[in-house]
Amino acid sequence: MEEQQTHIDIKWVLSTIPNKLILVIIILSITSSFEGAINGYVLGQMTKIVFNNFENVGHFLLMVAMAYLITYTSAYLFLLTTQKALQFLTQRLKYEFFISDFFQTNHGNLDSSDVINKVTNVSNQIQRQYFQPLFYIFQSLATIVTTTFVILETNVFLGIIYILISASSFLPSIIGKKQMNMKTDTWSVANTKLVTIIKDIFQGKNEIKKFGVINGFTKKFFHSLNTEEENFFKLNRTQYTVQFIAWICAVISDVIPMGIGLIMVVNHIAGVEISTIVTLSLSADAVVGSVREFANYQTQITSTSSIRTFMTYNIKKIGSNSFKEKTKNISLYLKNIAFYRQKKLVFKDINLELNDDQKVIITGDSGVGKSTLLQIIAGQLMPSKGGILFNGHKIAIEDSVLISQKPWLFEGTVKENLTLYQDFPESALVQTLKDVRLWDELGTDPLNYKIESTGINVSGGQAQRLAIARGLLRNKQLFLLDEITASLDKENAYKIRKLIYELPVMVIEVAHNIDNELVKNYSIRINVLTKNGLKNE
Ligand SMILES: Nc1ncnc2c1ncn2[C@@H]1O[C@H](COP(=O)(O)OP(=O)(O)OP(=O)(O)O)[C@@H](O)[C@H]1O
Ligand SMILES: [Mg+2]
Repeated sequence: MEEQQTHIDIKWVLSTIPNKLILVIIILSITSSFEGAINGYVLGQMTKIVFNNFENVGHFLLMVAMAYLITYTSAYLFLLTTQKALQFLTQRLKYEFFISDFFQTNHGNLDSSDVINKVTNVSNQIQRQYFQPLFYIFQSLATIVTTTFVILETNVFLGIIYILISASSFLPSIIGKKQMNMKTDTWSVANTKLVTIIKDIFQGKNEIKKFGVINGFTKKFFHSLNTEEENFFKLNRTQYTVQFIAWICAVISDVIPMGIGLIMVVNHIAGVEISTIVTLSLSADAVVGSVREFANYQTQITSTSSIRTFMTYNIKKIGSNSFKEKTKNISLYLKNIAFYRQKKLVFKDINLELNDDQKVIITGDSGVGKSTLLQIIAGQLMPSKGGILFNGHKIAIEDSVLISQKPWLFEGTVKENLTLYQDFPESALVQTLKDVRLWDELGTDPLNYKIESTGINVSGGQAQRLAIARGLLRNKQLFLLDEITASLDKENAYKIRKLIYELPVMVIEVAHNIDNELVKNYSIRINVLTKNGLKNE
């Protein structure tokens, strides 16, 4: 699978918002930044008006009203259009986070906490601290540019000094960048942990009530909540500290050029007069104000740099796992498989060969690594050494069906749980349900039988048979079963095993207890897994 790391930056933002909307936002951010200029214009004109000319006064007032109306309408439309743009951005961001975490392979255990954190908290943080400031920073930039023009018009030499020194307001945000990134990272980790704890506690709600142990868990929750909120506080504290230092720089950048200007007046340099300093200080104040805002936004923007990444995958390649023609000669070779977990050996020298519809049962002590081996064959874990060939190619995740005690079912009809939103002829669905003996068990309209979230309203055996049906429907040839009978009663265990042993597919079953009669009738091999390999029983 091709994967690539993407950083959310200006380019990403521009490619997400429709071009027309970008254009409108740019225009509105400029027209809405004229408030200061209008104030100046109005004050300036007021002195020139002949007040006994009624028409003149009326004309003036109309002009003023129009100018303000245009500015404030622009400001309103600017807010609306940026909100629309934010919708585009946040929606794409959450979607990308979702896909990125979905295909992340190094997760080992299925854990949704990280993705939940990303599509809620992290996304909101990016929206507040990156997307939004991006728009406002553009508005400040517009003000800076127009006012700088006024400054340079007044006195080039002193004007440049004013501008250069006011640029020092950026220094704190550049220096504080690393700190902000670190704090944001720590906060995000604490957030994921909090979501994990909430999930764990809610999954064990009944046990917690049964054992009367809510106190310990509320403490654990509160502690984690406190850590998360504390980290959020620290993140904001750092941001405001950086901003404060930026303000100090802004003050200095106001006072120093004033001093230089006064020295220039005293020494008659470059034609600087007191009026020049007054004009420059006033307009520089507007620039410094905008620069200060700009620096604030800049700090916010850089603070999110570390959380603004996700992985992109070539989804087309993986999304084509539907109906396949049945292959005739099936072969599976496990060659010298070894697996280490954190450098600790789980097992080594695993060799196995199976052909066509051969079936093998793998037993062994608890914890020896049977489930781990199945996950390796299923392509969900990579072996540390050795390799697996299935029909001559390196085995892939889509080559097998792995069935556990508690197969994955989701809220939807039996039909949806079988087709997984792919197209299959109805007759194939009916036949498959008959094959797994479910046709008569799920009411009068089995295909439309409504399964609830996590499959709580079907029995363990029914859930397993639905999972088998999913594989049969797609002509899968290799079924991997992990202790599927462990939680079934004797009769159901017998029924499902018989069904599986009769299927024309290759089966590797991990089991503690074995049905000797069935094993004999269907001549099924039995292997024992040890640290040092598979042994025939
Ligand atoms: N996700 C994991 N992270 C770390 N260690 C794990 C993980 N899953 C299993 N282990 C460890 O790896 C070893 C093998 O586990 P595995 O589940 O494969 O054993 P098993 O033979 O299936 O046991 P059982 O018969 O009890 O199901 C055990 O020591 C287990 O503690
Ligand atoms: Mg196991």
